[in-house]
Amino acid sequence: MEKQHGSPSVLVNNAGVYPEATDAKVVDTSTALWRETFETNLFGAMRMCRDVVPLMKKIRYGRIVNISSGLGQMHQMGEGSPAYRVSKAALNALTRTLAAEVAGTGILVNSMSPGWVKTDMGGEEAPRSVEEGADTAVVG
Ligand SMILES: NC(=O)c1ccc[n+]([C@@H]2O[C@H](COP(=O)([O-])OP(=O)(O)OC[C@H]3O[C@@H](n4cnc5c(N)ncnc54)[C@H](OP(=O)(O)O)[C@@H]3O)[C@@H](O)[C@H]2O)c1
Repeated sequence: MEKQHGSPSVLVNNAGVYPEATDAKVVDTSTALWRETFETNLFGAMRMCRDVVPLMKKIRYGRIVNISSGLGQMHQMGEGSPAYRVSKAALNALTRTLAAEVAGTGILVNSMSPGWVKTDMGGEEAPRSVEEGADTAVVG
């Protein structure tokens, strides 16, 4: 990555999957689906952070934004979409753990929810445009 791109100063971990029904239940969700969800939503972001943080440390600057979801917030944790919810809660935990690890190095790590956005994942009914969904990561 360093040879191709130099030291990146910004990483937005946006890639995500939601391969289950909104009314899915823990007891009916296969291990394969849990793994598929975690592979992108947690491990994908973790691998990107692991590759990029050492390069950001070299330039003493970095901004990492992990795109999470309201469904991953502990204070509103409830039933439905279990693999997705737990993967995003884990992503939030990764965010806080890494943020603490790099404190004082010039690298900030945050997660954010874009809200319900009109994308392939969010669907046509979603109230927020793609631009509105992206604004916190881009401006904030
Ligand atoms: N839309 C919403 O209402 C909403 C709400 C809360 C949070 N989010 C979060 O916002 C982020 C973006 O979601 P979205 O709404 O844009 O979803 P989307 O329309 O389904 O798009 C998902 C994107 O992630 C990419 N992706 C998925 N798995 C990948 C992988 N293993 N490697 C590389 N790229 C991969 C897809 O690429 P390909 O097209 O090439 O597969 C696609 O560009 C996700 O993290 C999602 O969980 C969305």
